[in-house]
Amino acid sequence: ARRHSVAVIPGDGIGSEVVPAAVAAVDAVAAVHGFTVRWTEYPWGSDHYRRHGRMMAVDGLDLLSRHDAILLGAVGTPDIPDDVTLWGLLIPIRRQFDQYVNLRPVRSMPGVRGPLRDANDIDLVIVRENVEGEYSEIGGRFHRGRPEEMAIQEAVFTRAGVARVAGYAARLASERRGGLTSATKSNGIIHTMPFWDEVVAETVAASPGVALRKVLIDALAAELVLRPERFDVIVASNLFGDILSDLASALTGSIGLAASANLNPERKHPSLFEPVHGSAPDIAGKGIANPVGQIWSAALMLRHLGEETAAQALLDAVDAALAAGVLTPDLGGNATTGDFVSAVVTTITATASTTADRST
Ligand code: NAD
Ligand code: IPM
Ligand code: MN
Repeated sequence: ARRHSVAVIPGDGIGSEVVPAAVAAVDAVAAVHGFTVRWTEYPWGSDHYRRHGRMMAVDGLDLLSRHDAILLGAVGTPDIPDDVTLWGLLIPIRRQFDQYVNLRPVRSMPGVRGPLRDANDIDLVIVRENVEGEYSEIGGRFHRGRPEEMAIQEAVFTRAGVARVAGYAARLASERRGGLTSATKSNGIIHTMPFWDEVVAETVAASPGVALRKVLIDALAAELVLRPERFDVIVASNLFGDILSDLASALTGSIGLAASANLNPERKHPSLFEPVHGSAPDIAGKGIANPVGQIWSAALMLRHLGEETAAQALLDAVDAALAAGVLTPDLGGNATTGDFVSAVVTTITATASTTADRST
């Protein structure tokens, strides 16, 4: 049977609640679809930091590099600065493994109402540049404690870095509905963003059948709220893509629904799959976190590992649970994380036995 080796990092807060949920759902679908996942759990995160002064093992990146994929929950805790926790784990993984595409699909889900009146046909994908841009290590804090104190952070956009993510987005758009929106701010950010526009336009020009529209990020935020169904693929820099992904997923009902794939498209390194949301300290420990974003991320992982049918079965089971009204409190229901996963696993198992009955 096919075997996949996956590194699992539950991390902090609700990460340790939604990750086991996704693992159970994947195990169920794997049993039905003829493969196994060998999970290796790494207990890294804020507790590890409190004990060892590091977010992950010294050779953590090396350990991760030996797996086919990485499934992550979330990182971050109120009593440790976010720059320490995130730059000690998530950001180094994205960079070390050159996961330059952060793919974030957003769609209206059955049985779930978002905050907008008529929007039930949202179906878009955010392609977020994931290793450069506004998230740069270049800069610093100067004249500490003096009146002239300041902090400087350089945004770095390279031709190769913009072209490769724009190329990915253009290919994706050509396989979908052919619409590509580029998020920009070339009216205000006068060095990097005009360059972004230029490289995106040049790259997309090589993709026949893709209609490129560049939209200023402020207007784009408004348009997403007013006409979200109009968007197909959105390509955005690291920071703009980050903000747009919480906005777009909230329009479908909850950021707890949103999935992401941090991809190294060349497959030289493992890719990382994690929900868009964070560790949600405000609801952690209550057993009520929405596991959909984590399960959907696991489905993206299965697709990446070549298990397309299983990935689709997992997504169908999620849809079925939502459509049946198994909704966590963020979606207006009172289901627990466990209730939702039970519903998903039951559907997967039931579908399998129906199919087996039919084939005998
Ligand atoms: P958050 O995404 O953790 O939470 C924002 C709001 O959404 C909260 O009210 C939370 O309860 C709700 N929410 C999020 N996920 C949910 C789910 N699955 N089900 C139900 N409700 C959900 O964002 P935040 O509060 O700004 O950040 C908390 C911590 O997480 C910070 O330390 C932050 O740096 C970190 N963070 C980590 C990641 C990551 O590891 N990838 C991503 C985002 C934020
Ligand atoms: C995300 C998160 C991270 C990001 C943070 C936690 C550094 O918000 O994955 O969306 O900004 O990339
Ligand atoms: Mn984010």
